[in-house]
Amino acid sequence: MLKTIAAAVTLSTFVIAAVVSHPVKAADKTSAPTTMPIPADYREWIYLTSGMDMTYAQAGAVGLTADKKSVFDNVFVNPEAYKVFKQTGTWPDKTTFILENRIGEPNVSINKGGRTQSHDISGLEIHAKMNNEWVFYVRGKDGQEHLVPKPASCYTCHEEHAASDTTFVQFYPTLLPIAQAKNTLSAAYLKETASPDGSGAGTTPVAPPTK
Ligand code: HEC
Repeated sequence: MLKTIAAAVTLSTFVIAAVVSHPVKAADKTSAPTTMPIPADYREWIYLTSGMDMTYAQAGAVGLTADKKSVFDNVFVNPEAYKVFKQTGTWPDKTTFILENRIGEPNVSINKGGRTQSHDISGLEIHAKMNNEWVFYVRGKDGQEHLVPKPASCYTCHEEHAASDTTFVQFYPTLLPIAQAKNTLSAAYLKETASPDGSGAGTTPVAPPTK
């Protein structure tokens, strides 16, 4: 997610802003529970990527926290869903992704260059498919995961830019070739990567053709 925003905006202001500026319509109602605990064993799930200092603002902007720290985002998915994706290129119901943020720390132990991941977790987010509907949760300052009500930028950015079924498969090296082979890349993503002056051309990875 957008680290710069994540660092600056607390969950409570986020929720209030969403409620004030976008009255909830019937279509936005969801049957998903308002909280979903982070599964205790998610670190034993399938590891997909570690994005570093990702930013979705203008070119040149640096995607660091408000106090200019580097941030890693580690992405995991539950093994049952991964198995289905490998076979079909689609996510089954009950797919659960965890995005875990850790600060990139310089000069730890013998390290003299680059960054390593902090022991402390600085953020946790969930993207889950429940009753065939994707929903997001964010861990708040109270240590609980809170459902992000619709509409919110989480939903729009993932719907408009993620490569497959609202998930950012273009950044998950083991998954992009599968989605390509199974033809499950979204129309929006294919358009974005194809247009020379469209957003994302030249920056959005495309996996080499599968043999
Ligand atoms: C401007 C675009 C954007 C917005 C807004 C955004 N995300 Fe994401 N999100 C991304 C990108 C890009 C990735 C891939 C991260 C990587 O490669 O490390 C991602 C990945 C994720 C993942 C991993 C699973 C997946 O779907 O690929 C979760 C969980 C997630 N975001 C949660 C959230 C939540 C919660 C919010 C809202 C509070 C949010 N995101 C808002 C762009 C966005």
